[in-house]
Amino acid sequence: MSDNTVPPASGTSTGPPRRSVALAITGASGAMYATRTMAALLERGCHLELVISDYGRRLLRDELGETASADKLTEYLVTHYGERVRTGTYTLYSNKDLGAKIASGSQHCEGMVVVPCSMKTLAGIAHGLSRNLVERAADVMLKERRPLIIVPRETPMSLPQLRNMTLCAEAGAMIMPAMPAFYQMPKTLEDLADFMAGKILSALGFAHSLYPTWEG
Ligand SMILES: Cc1cc2nc3c(=O)[nH]c(=O)nc-3n(C[C@H](O)[C@H](O)[C@H](O)COP(=O)(O)O)c2cc1C
Repeated sequence: MSDNTVPPASGTSTGPPRRSVALAITGASGAMYATRTMAALLERGCHLELVISDYGRRLLRDELGETASADKLTEYLVTHYGERVRTGTYTLYSNKDLGAKIASGSQHCEGMVVVPCSMKTLAGIAHGLSRNLVERAADVMLKERRPLIIVPRETPMSLPQLRNMTLCAEAGAMIMPAMPAFYQMPKTLEDLADFMAGKILSALGFAHSLYPTWEG
């Protein structure tokens, strides 16, 4: 059961098959990292299987305003990142829908990113709990040996939180803390979000110029 499928813009139905990536937004600070990553993948013609936890939905509104509510995300992304986001498509699933496509290893999603990832969801993934669609889809990525990128955000971190990151890394996930670099001389919050989105795209094998290459 999906609650929103956004169709491709007209004229984009031919050409190579779309790359398909699962993207989960949970209730950790840094909603802008999620919207920037979404926009960057959509601009590249991706199909996104999108899941947003209840607290992820709250963080989108708390940090980015009411126009970033889950049911208005397309308009938000077009307003902030431009019409090119319409090149891609996404399907938004309920986090309660454990029968959704991405709950099964038979689907063809090539990888998943959890951005930002709360300590609660991190714990659920680390321990294979599959209590909701975010945790189950992440579990599927691990068991199928597909890329899983976890972008945790918390500070300071407790020993259980550190251990949960280790467990996920041992199981094959990439732990990519929301730690944008400052050697790029960021001037705006968008620059920081670009950096994290660029790191995520690189990990998924997408070319981009979201931050300048370090030339030494
Ligand atoms: C405004 C706000 C900011 C939060 N920031 C964080 C955070 O940065 N990291 C974190 O692990 N939890 C944070 N939380 C707490 C989580 O949202 C909470 O643990 C929630 O149960 C996570 O559920 P989820 O993983 O299903 O989204 C925050 C909550 C709120 C309301």
